[in-house]
Amino acid sequence: MQKWNTTAVNHRANEILARMTLPEKVAQMVQVPFAYVSREEALDWAKRGAGSFLHVLGEDAREIQRLALGTRLGIPVLFGIDAIHGHGLNQSAAIFPSQLAAACSWNPAVLEEMGRVTAREVAADGLHWTFSPVLCLGRDARWGRINETFGEDPYLAGELGAAIIHGYQGEDLADGEHILACAKHYIGYGDAIGGRDSCDTEMTFRKLKETFLPPFRRAVEAGAATVMTAYGSIDGTPFTASERAMREILRGELGFTGFVVTDWDNVASLVQKQFVAKDIDEAALLAARAGNDMMMTTTAFYESAIRLVESGALDESVLDEAVGNILRVKIAMGLFKRPQDRGTPDCLGCAEHRLSALFAARESVTLLKNDGVLPLNETIRKIAVVGANADDIRAQYGDWTYFTHPHPSPKSTPARPYVTLLEGVRMLAQPHGIAVSFARGCGPLPDEVDDLEAAVAAAKEADVIVLAVGDVVEQAGEYRDRADLSLSGAQEALFERLLQLGKPIVTVLISTKPLCVTRVAEGSAALIAAFNGGMYGGQAVAEAIFGAVNPSGKLPISFPRHSGQIPVYYNSLPGWHGGRYVDLPETPLFTFGEGLSYTSFAYSALHVERETLRVSVTLTNTGARAGSETAQVYVRDLVSSILTPLKRLIAFQKIHLEAGESKQLVFQLQRDDFSLIRADEVRVVEPGEFMLFVGGSSKDVDLLTQVIALE
Ligand code: BGC
Repeated sequence: MQKWNTTAVNHRANEILARMTLPEKVAQMVQVPFAYVSREEALDWAKRGAGSFLHVLGEDAREIQRLALGTRLGIPVLFGIDAIHGHGLNQSAAIFPSQLAAACSWNPAVLEEMGRVTAREVAADGLHWTFSPVLCLGRDARWGRINETFGEDPYLAGELGAAIIHGYQGEDLADGEHILACAKHYIGYGDAIGGRDSCDTEMTFRKLKETFLPPFRRAVEAGAATVMTAYGSIDGTPFTASERAMREILRGELGFTGFVVTDWDNVASLVQKQFVAKDIDEAALLAARAGNDMMMTTTAFYESAIRLVESGALDESVLDEAVGNILRVKIAMGLFKRPQDRGTPDCLGCAEHRLSALFAARESVTLLKNDGVLPLNETIRKIAVVGANADDIRAQYGDWTYFTHPHPSPKSTPARPYVTLLEGVRMLAQPHGIAVSFARGCGPLPDEVDDLEAAVAAAKEADVIVLAVGDVVEQAGEYRDRADLSLSGAQEALFERLLQLGKPIVTVLISTKPLCVTRVAEGSAALIAAFNGGMYGGQAVAEAIFGAVNPSGKLPISFPRHSGQIPVYYNSLPGWHGGRYVDLPETPLFTFGEGLSYTSFAYSALHVERETLRVSVTLTNTGARAGSETAQVYVRDLVSSILTPLKRLIAFQKIHLEAGESKQLVFQLQRDDFSLIRADEVRVVEPGEFMLFVGGSSKDVDLLTQVIALE
């Protein structure tokens, strides 16, 4: 049972609820956007007993809390913030790799630690709640928010999501060091048609249950205290208005007992953007009935809900239920006992936290190609680092830091410490007396001043070129989807010029998403996907280039060869003609689960016990140095009543092996791993044969197989 669902907590919540007036109840359901209202309005909302504020830090938060505590019932305010890869809106915080970058680690311990550290920093800042993790699937790389996802696979997203939720919430939410997590965006936001942010989805409830619900199921099992409603819609019904999605599935089927917050102004959007309500009263009615407990930024909900109850259109018991959900979480997290001064003061960006950010970055470096140039050997005396992203901390951070939120402030001064790729290369080159030159060449945006000649001149002198390509925050995030994922600006041209020099090029992708780097991948001697590596992303990549770190990342998302190939993900449903365009191979450029190492691994002796569903395999490090490998288990239902993917991830393990070392890995599968959602929306295991695959990526060549029959 969740801690906010105990008899004691229920009793206390009911006591408070019984004393509340209608306006006091409705105020609890309002979340005020501090950065978007005047100070006076904000303070006024605190005096009215608003349940929550978002995006407010430090002294402002303290003042609001003092006012709330001074109200008739003194119900403390819950402060929420988007601390999604570290408490990044605060300049002093430890900034971790983006969710997509961290997902490359395939290491739940990394995500749990990222959550733990973020929670400590958020708590120390006087806040209680982060709007994280994103459990939408990243299946269309055109979408601007791909960087916020754990990639394309429901199982991986669920496991990593559960891990970060444990990190945020800990064992005891009331210890002051932990904060509330928020599983978002419920549901299907990542599946918006064409990757267009917040558009409609082509989803059915069956598909929702089969593909998009599992990560939320894991989040609820992991105890996520809150869930955020998505912007989109399902079969013509906005999720904000979907009683079926929220009451029947989230609460009924998943057993969620925390509270639901809408996304930004979802209630007003029912009127202004989705046109399913004629006015705000009708929108408020739909939202409350559907099961949204707290309304983010739609402060007009306050007057509307009062009118609705007074006119008899809305039963007050609907509000009682919502307020009860909010109060129970506030009580369980000890907010009444300790509304402020939680956490450890001065822990923001402390050495211990920064070390965790560095470790996360190291675990996430993903080597996609290597003709042997890496790690660099002693013959290298001169390195040319080229490309604007090699020395641009904004690009390395990506979205959701103080450069992007709550208001875009690209010109604000970056706060040290951090290490860009250029700085990392210099740091590692220096002890060996290796010379490092730098030329921007060009950046991803066309309006920048390019100097390809200077880059070519620097590269001409070098033994190896380290080229950073990618995108910048102006090309990603909410409202910023891209139609064309080829390298923007003069980046391709720069690459061609460098290629003509005939020197080995080590290309590093510092980007928010998989870009179409087909030509660059072909021509580069080595290719590393770093995505947005956080404060030490540059250092971690440099360490990999020099061999101080043996890369162990695996892709959580496939790379399209061309924008026209999107969507391309490994677990799509089978089609007749192979899903191939006449002008492209059917495979992605790089596929889910791929990632190289400086050592090699071999899988052997796959054994599956049909009775116990115990899978074992021997993994051997067959190379000359220690390294980590992620063993992946996939399943295919050979004949099923509905289409099922040709491969679906059901387990994985990341293991460290010394050179020459062997280990037997054991995966204990569950019967449910073999289940599907039938046409009538019931989850079942259909008897018959299943193929199990075990190996180092989702590619056939990397997998051992065995067929088992299940009753
Ligand atoms: C985003 C959410 C975010 C919220 C608060 C919305 O626009 O979709 O993911 O948590 O803003 O900043």
